[in-house]
Amino acid sequence: MALVQFHTAPGTLDLGWGHPHPDALPVGEWAEATAAALRRYGAAALTYGYAAGPGPLIEWIKSRAGGEVFVTAGASHALELVASVFGRGGGVLVDTPTYHLALATLADHGLDLVAAPADADGIDPAAMLELIERRRAAGRPVTLLYLVPTYGNPTGRSLPAARRAELIEVARRGGVTIVEDDTYRELSYDGVPAPAPLFSADSADTVIRIGSFAKTVAPGLRLGWITASADRVAALVRRGYVDSGGGVNHTAALAMAEFAGSGAFDAHLERIRRRYAGQRDALVDALRRYVPQAAFDVPAGGWFLWVRLLSADQLVEPAARHGVGFLPGNTFFLHPAPGRPIRLAFSHYGEADLTEAARRLATAAASLSPK
Ligand SMILES: Cc1ncc(COP(=O)(O)O)c(C=O)c1O
Repeated sequence: MALVQFHTAPGTLDLGWGHPHPDALPVGEWAEATAAALRRYGAAALTYGYAAGPGPLIEWIKSRAGGEVFVTAGASHALELVASVFGRGGGVLVDTPTYHLALATLADHGLDLVAAPADADGIDPAAMLELIERRRAAGRPVTLLYLVPTYGNPTGRSLPAARRAELIEVARRGGVTIVEDDTYRELSYDGVPAPAPLFSADSADTVIRIGSFAKTVAPGLRLGWITASADRVAALVRRGYVDSGGGVNHTAALAMAEFAGSGAFDAHLERIRRRYAGQRDALVDALRRYVPQAAFDVPAGGWFLWVRLLSADQLVEPAARHGVGFLPGNTFFLHPAPGRPIRLAFSHYGEADLTEAARRLATAAASLSPK
């Protein structure tokens, strides 16, 4: 009887999955938050909820993220909504590499996906404006730009502050709405705060920001949010299915308001930041020790290492034989090409397993290297 999404061959350490470590999921505290919500709100916690989400959670999200808020069933649902309400009638520019399942979600809507031009720092704003104008002249306008600018999936990298400002300016000039997937923002390590989001009161005409409690609290809750201009949130609220079903995941949203308001969220976040930073360090140290030919940047946040390894695409099969998994780089692009890095998620396994995974990767890589 299937219960969860994660599956892998027995004995395999599969670093292909960006899933949380089981010990990072706050089972007891969540039970308390749910009980507290039911005590505080009684029947109002179990009836149809207010369309944009219940006030206590909206106020808390607003106090941290600004803008108008629409509570969603996770970042995936937020993207699905944004694609269906704001993506129509045009092409979508996507940062590459980027979150592969965002590509799948956007493609589900029949949107024409185009890689945004980029250089070593990320999307190149001037080249992007040229592309937008070329497409508009050809009768193929661009409506959205999707990117994960902070602790990106799969690279772990963040877009520099100057690029953020330029990108907003260019998108505004080109009439394109930026979809800022900010799923990993809170997972910053080493005491260094994340760069400011693209979304702000000044950029709300051009940017929609997507957030999630999946990485900070638990993916099973299916709880996230959109922050956007009042007009855009009003357009989401007007959807027939929202009118029909009321606010999304109302009962879980009220439990989250308790979890946040009691201070449990902040305490939990501190704990998991330490945990995931430790897991990142364990994998980094083990790769440096066992796979010295692997080249990568150490991410300041998020869940992933983006690793350049000789013959990465050929590595999948020997790695599986040696009991270790990863995602090949091509997963995160619109079109395949040889020699791309691989993505290793350090989120799901503890430090000892990550060290062992690096050792196995070294053995697999050695089986490919010329003797
Ligand atoms: C960039 C990015 N966006 C969205 C998601 C999915 O978020 P949620 O679980 O809130 O739907 C993920 C999960 O891997 C992700 O990496």
